[in-house]
Amino acid sequence: MDYRVVRTVDARDIHIPSRALARCHKDHDAQGASWWSSRQRNSTPADGVENRPVRCDRLVNLDDENDAVVRYRMHPSNAMDEHTKSRRVLTSDDIEVSTYLGIAQALKGEQLEPKETAPLSGRESIIIFDFGSQYSMLIARRIREFHVYCEVVPHDTPWEKIKPLNPRGFVLSGGPASVYAEGAPLAPTYVFERHLPVLGICYGMQAIAHQLGGVVTPGTKREYGHAVLHLGADELPLFANLPSSMPVWMSHGDVVSELPPGFRALAYTENSTYAVIGNNQNVYGLQFHPEVTHTPQGRQIIENFLFKVCGCSGSWTPAKFITESVERIREQVGNGVVACALSGGVDSAVTATLIHRAVGDNLTCFFINNGLLRREEPERVLNTFANNLKMKVVYVDATERFLRRLKGVIDPEQKRHIVGEEFIHVFEEEAAKIGSVDFLAQGTVYPDVIESSSSCENKASARIKSHHNVGGLPESMHLNLVEPLRYLFKDEVRQVGLELGLPEEMVWRQPFPGPGLSIRVIGEVTKERLEILRSADWIVMNEIKKAKLYGELWQSFAVLTDVRSVGVMGDSRTYGYLIAVRAVNSTDAMTADWARLPYELLDRIADRIINEVPLVNRVVYDITSKPPATIEWE
Ligand code: XMP
Repeated sequence: MDYRVVRTVDARDIHIPSRALARCHKDHDAQGASWWSSRQRNSTPADGVENRPVRCDRLVNLDDENDAVVRYRMHPSNAMDEHTKSRRVLTSDDIEVSTYLGIAQALKGEQLEPKETAPLSGRESIIIFDFGSQYSMLIARRIREFHVYCEVVPHDTPWEKIKPLNPRGFVLSGGPASVYAEGAPLAPTYVFERHLPVLGICYGMQAIAHQLGGVVTPGTKREYGHAVLHLGADELPLFANLPSSMPVWMSHGDVVSELPPGFRALAYTENSTYAVIGNNQNVYGLQFHPEVTHTPQGRQIIENFLFKVCGCSGSWTPAKFITESVERIREQVGNGVVACALSGGVDSAVTATLIHRAVGDNLTCFFINNGLLRREEPERVLNTFANNLKMKVVYVDATERFLRRLKGVIDPEQKRHIVGEEFIHVFEEEAAKIGSVDFLAQGTVYPDVIESSSSCENKASARIKSHHNVGGLPESMHLNLVEPLRYLFKDEVRQVGLELGLPEEMVWRQPFPGPGLSIRVIGEVTKERLEILRSADWIVMNEIKKAKLYGELWQSFAVLTDVRSVGVMGDSRTYGYLIAVRAVNSTDAMTADWARLPYELLDRIADRIINEVPLVNRVVYDITSKPPATIEWE
């Protein structure tokens, strides 16, 4: 690569989430140090990768005039373990509520996973066997986009678990291993014995070749990046509506060097004679990745596989999910009593609404106002759930006790702990008042499920480290979990929310951290300072919404800094607070770009804050991206 070095940051503790690193290209320098490179604009999505911060000690920004590239060097000590203790929960929304409850539950030594209820029979599905690819979850999302239900399962899942899902076809994911290595993960034999269509992707294709009698060998050089795929002469359903050649995204070292009996080459690239292989039993292998955006016609290939090869009907819609889910919840809960903590975010809102549809007043929701919410937030949440949806909501204004505990605290991590601990205490007291509770509802979503089942250390235990002083739930509470969103991706949760008739502003709410405004008031959290922040934040939100940018931005908010500065107002000198405005674009919060808001908008925001918020005399706009900055200031 011939790049111009723009900036080098040395000897810095730069924490890059492994999920972000996973989207990077990895190589080594002459000294053997590992480096990752990422094209900022066009980085490949990397869902499904275990996410923990990795420590780097050098960051270089390079520019080849067309594209920015960032290179990170791993810290020599590679202190992964130390840094798994990250204290931040990296997605916000409602995760914090379920995190607090999950931790409290685990502290009691109770089983955290919900009892699996049998899937509803008759529903068609596609099964994705996970060989450890960073893209397994992305494959699932692509399939779900066609309203076909699919699940990602470990590669060694027994048939008894798969059968009830009524599979119509199997997908074998990519993966980092080599099929010929000892102990390499392979597909279960039933995959080839059930006479169902199979689509192997990258490693998945190599597994097909290896297991069915072909030969896989190390390639002479790793093929990474764009390639042009040329289709063979066969008119295949898998290739319907595709041009005869198209760009595809490759990422592999090993190659299929001999086809298994009955297979033929269906397409090739310059470097891969066997870029697509297949037999007459609808078993196909793709050496490239159809699920990534770098393969523009990949969607069409997946669509062909689902509908023309597997014969799926594509009937898994949000409405269908709601009907199935309500039925399942009734089956699981019976006449039991369910408790659900609301946060104002979309996950807990959809969870509560589904459960309410299923069991009505056997559900009690708890909405704890920790005094760290934004202006009008408590009123809106109450209005939606209690007044409009007629749910039983226990509303607790615990502002005083949270603020009392936060008095004098300036360390952000301590603030986080206090908010988590106090939340559990309040929840525990309030839940005890309604008598016996049998089930706890949680808004766990599918990425959390996949992440915890694929990592050796489960999610809750990782969180315990970070919230070690969250209190436990009462001894008398032996709760089972109800997690109706367990198999949904976030965008599907939103679709279900809309179908359930939840207000758009709740469904599309920008992420808001569990510790709320306590980590946006830099320094000590007091009533007065919270009020200043609320007023400024209200203006930011209001102007962003008026400019129709709210939905486009990942997050936009105000921060009350602990800086005071001199100003003039009229004839007199002022010594006022400094408000920082933060707005970022992101797809997953792992990396974020500061938003290039129009100057006129920034001008209006600053003008209104100065005029409408007492004691503030200066407004600044945060123009740092993540990394190196985080989205929140604390
Ligand atoms: P940072 O600031 O680490 O934030 O770039 C990434 C995302 O996580 C949110 N965030 C939190 N969410 N509890 C949460 O529930 C927390 O303690 C917390 N800290 C940060 C942040 O708003 C952003 O969406």
